[in-house]
Amino acid sequence: MKPAVHALGDPLATAPFYAPAGNECALFELAWRRGLPLLLKGPTGCGKTRFVAHMAARLGLPLHTVACHDDLTAADLTGRYLLRGGDTVWTDGPLTRAVREGGICYLDEVVEARKDVAVVLHPLTDDRRILPLERTGEELAAPKSFMLVVSYNPGYQSLLKALKPSTRQRFVAIEFDFLPPAQEVAVVATESGLPAERVRPLVTLAGRLRALKGHDLEEGVSTRLIVYCASLMVAGLPAAEAVLAAMIEPLTDEPDVKAALIEVAKAVVG
Ligand SMILES: Nc1ncnc2c1ncn2[C@@H]1O[C@H](COP(=O)(O)OP(=O)(O)OP(=O)(O)O)[C@@H](O)[C@H]1O
Ligand SMILES: [Mg+2]
Repeated sequence: MKPAVHALGDPLATAPFYAPAGNECALFELAWRRGLPLLLKGPTGCGKTRFVAHMAARLGLPLHTVACHDDLTAADLTGRYLLRGGDTVWTDGPLTRAVREGGICYLDEVVEARKDVAVVLHPLTDDRRILPLERTGEELAAPKSFMLVVSYNPGYQSLLKALKPSTRQRFVAIEFDFLPPAQEVAVVATESGLPAERVRPLVTLAGRLRALKGHDLEEGVSTRLIVYCASLMVAGLPAAEAVLAAMIEPLTDEPDVKAALIEVAKAVVG
């Protein structure tokens, strides 16, 4: 596969750091080349957003990220008429901007969005690749370089919020998970500046805490939290305090569960 061509510098060197777990970078680039939309699923803090930022930079594409929430409507994505000095002016939303520019539109936690969002995504995510703007009467054909990427965390999904098959089946999908320990140590060391030998016990602890998911914990500790913990240690906080603040308190409000987690942490980190 030929790498993307760029006028400025080496995009791999300047892209945000991302350590791949497998062939996801090649798969992303192939999907982009073939005009296929991509769905990323996986637990919180495992690298989905970083992956998209990395690939956008590598491919030299503008990136429009939207954090979806339960009030997000189709008009928030496509745009609306706004009052400006007495005039009503059409203002593109992030999805429309990405289509016009031929960039990437990344909808984070897409299952949260209101149902009418599917109506604008469907014609854009099948072979038509069009964005109808009802309000302006325009119908934008997405340029070749446009790509839609969505992500969600299957763990939080309620039946009410699940993506409909007619939506899911418009995407190529990649499942994300936490990296294997040796790679996760390398990522946390790079991100925080803490030496690998001091990161290692934190990653071991994360593995133990992740094993409690579903029993005492709703969600296992994320790579993001291990990076926070390591950053606090680099700044001089003793390990036990950093672990409590970054890897235990954010996980639970239950005193019993917290006490049990502290015991696990003492056994692993000291
Ligand atoms: N493979 C990776 N390469 C580089 N950094 C990573 C990787 N995985 C996780 N990280 C680190 O973990 C942090 C959290 O990752 P990110 O924000 O991409 O998670 P996410 O999967 O988008 O989570 P959420 O679902 O909560 O949005 C990053 O800021 C980065 O420091
Ligand atoms: Mg994210």
